[in-house]
Amino acid sequence: MEKVSVKTPGRSYDIIIGRGILDEAGNLSLKSISSGKALIITDSTVDGLYSGKLADSLQASGFSVEKYVIPAGESSKNTENLLDIVNFLAENNFTRSDTVFALGGGVVGDIAGFAASVYLRGINFVQIPTTLLAAVDSSVGGKTAVNLPSGKNLMGAFYQPNMVICDYSVFDTLSEEIFRDGCAEVIKYAMIFDSDFLERLKLPIKNNIEEVIKRCVSIKSHIVEMDEKDNAERQLLNFGHTFGHAIEKCSGYSISHGKAVAIGMAMITRASVKKEFCTPECLSALMELLNAFELPCSTEFSVDELYKVLLSDKKRKGDKINLVVPEKAGRCVLKKFPVADVRELLEAGM
Ligand code: GLY
Repeated sequence: MEKVSVKTPGRSYDIIIGRGILDEAGNLSLKSISSGKALIITDSTVDGLYSGKLADSLQASGFSVEKYVIPAGESSKNTENLLDIVNFLAENNFTRSDTVFALGGGVVGDIAGFAASVYLRGINFVQIPTTLLAAVDSSVGGKTAVNLPSGKNLMGAFYQPNMVICDYSVFDTLSEEIFRDGCAEVIKYAMIFDSDFLERLKLPIKNNIEEVIKRCVSIKSHIVEMDEKDNAERQLLNFGHTFGHAIEKCSGYSISHGKAVAIGMAMITRASVKKEFCTPECLSALMELLNAFELPCSTEFSVDELYKVLLSDKKRKGDKINLVVPEKAGRCVLKKFPVADVRELLEAGM
């Protein structure tokens, strides 16, 4: 079992990583919260697989357990479900010393965390990620949100969990497709921060999964500790995301986040080689990994289609937009561009 600690101004907490530790989730949680009422929030896919195990462990540690299941998929991350969860907590007399357990991927973690942050102005919250993407990215760092009709994650809060419990044995039931989505985020961490890690990703990732998760969450916690509220360094975690979000949106979200980020990383790196922000070796290092993980690296959408969507990106500030560009394999920087120049970068990235 491995432990990574995160210290933010609002809260310090541990990320516990191990195989089979879902069975110990109750006792592990007692290191940061007291037993009381527990609401397991999960989705219709994960429910049948793992909520029984979690409920048994929590009950054995003295929690009284309720469960709330949302349909699997991004469309569940909406204000109706949010309000329904908050009403469920109120109707079942949850107090501030009680706990929401988010058992699932990014959708479950985001809506459960936001519900925990607003109910009674904040109750205990434990993240139990069940996808690689949630384990290495969304369960850590306290970003919680729901989607609005005008866009993704437009309503939310920074709300750090009391603990993250990552049992990677649950990845055994993930499809290759969903596992690969998480691999795109793993490659992202290596590209922005760690050239040695980039080399180690050439080894089969599933044989080293504990080390891979630990390295990713260590990088993320280091960045979140410097900039919890996403005003500076944390924006580095958006490597590949600005173009990636545009691709996701153009596809009506039929292209998954991980795949869109993979394409976004390839596009901004191709553009960076052409603009001489980085060398062709940096692009080769990225492409080698994207190919090894069978992740896509180009899009069918046109520059016009992508540019139109980029104009409404929430990271845009007036007529400027911050993009994360690679300087070399294992090091990225933030660069501010006039929005009009981004069209040229898109062209260079195709
Ligand atoms: N997923 C990027 C972040 O947490 O800032």
